[in-house]
Amino acid sequence: MILVTGATGTVGRALIDQLLSAGERVRATSRHPATAHLPADVEVVEADLGNPTQTAAAMRDVDRVFLLSTGPAIPEHDAVVTRAAAEAGIARLVKLSSGRTGDDTATDPIPTWHRAGEQSVRTAGVPWTIVRPLGFMSNALHWAGSIRAHGAVYAPYGQGRIAVIDPRDIAAVAKVALTTDGHDGQVYTLSGPQALSPGEQTAVLGAVLGRQLEFIEVAPEQARQAILDHGVPTELADAIMALRATALEAFTSVVHDTVARLTGTPPRTFEQWAADHAIEFHSTAA
Ligand SMILES: NC(=O)c1ccc[n+]([C@@H]2O[C@H](COP(=O)([O-])OP(=O)(O)OC[C@H]3O[C@@H](n4cnc5c(N)ncnc54)[C@H](OP(=O)(O)O)[C@@H]3O)[C@@H](O)[C@H]2O)c1
Repeated sequence: MILVTGATGTVGRALIDQLLSAGERVRATSRHPATAHLPADVEVVEADLGNPTQTAAAMRDVDRVFLLSTGPAIPEHDAVVTRAAAEAGIARLVKLSSGRTGDDTATDPIPTWHRAGEQSVRTAGVPWTIVRPLGFMSNALHWAGSIRAHGAVYAPYGQGRIAVIDPRDIAAVAKVALTTDGHDGQVYTLSGPQALSPGEQTAVLGAVLGRQLEFIEVAPEQARQAILDHGVPTELADAIMALRATALEAFTSVVHDTVARLTGTPPRTFEQWAADHAIEFHSTAA
């Protein structure tokens, strides 16, 4: 049985569908199992990754683990999960990390948190694989409100290009690493097929939605305030802004062949992602 943490989130949810399609038995963790809304075939257990007792209980009868942790708690949660995995005799652990963890010059919070988490993974004594995606295509969902209301995307760092990836392709790589041999000790950096600026993503969204959309570059401070206005804690908002600034660096615009190499299928384009999520950008969406 495979334990999927972060199961109700973007990547975890996609991974669950792919594992079930492959006939795997899946257990999922959530802090709120009653509202997890996962497929009936999934066993859902309550676990906060900061709670060692719940996390250890979630690993009973499990042989493989997908580790997804988020925010400032990544180092602590990865330590809890890897300790529990070692005690449970887990045969294979796949950690979702972040692409920029591989950029040695990156000292901002998110890669720093993931580097600490990766260290727990490497030293736990459990066979591991680390998956490091660049920016998610699904981050564009943050623009849905302003697209619906004003036909506009407001974003900072307009000159920056990121080789954004569809979360379903991240899940596909995680599935391969969890279900096939030959991935122990491997670190996979993942990207989509093309580096795009926010203005170029706006143009693709406009073409897919059949609407004229405007891209308006905003100052980083304005973007930070918008994140805070959504209720995101200051530490996380600052970490997100530090990450966004790195869109201007060449590192995030490099296209990697990993998805095609590991899954046998080319990564989805942003156009495909946008078409599959068009309903979320239409004016009639909630
Ligand atoms: N967005 C990007 O561009 C990007 C790029 C590279 C890497 N990443 C990495 O991707 C990860 C985020 O993935 P995602 O977007 O799929 O996540 P997400 O949609 O934000 O979902 C977060 C998941 O984590 C679970 N969770 C949160 N706090 C928890 C806790 N204390 N204990 C147990 N579970 C907890 C939530 O489950 P419940 O609420 O059900 O408990 C939820 O399933 C982060 O590690 C991030 O650094 C993101």
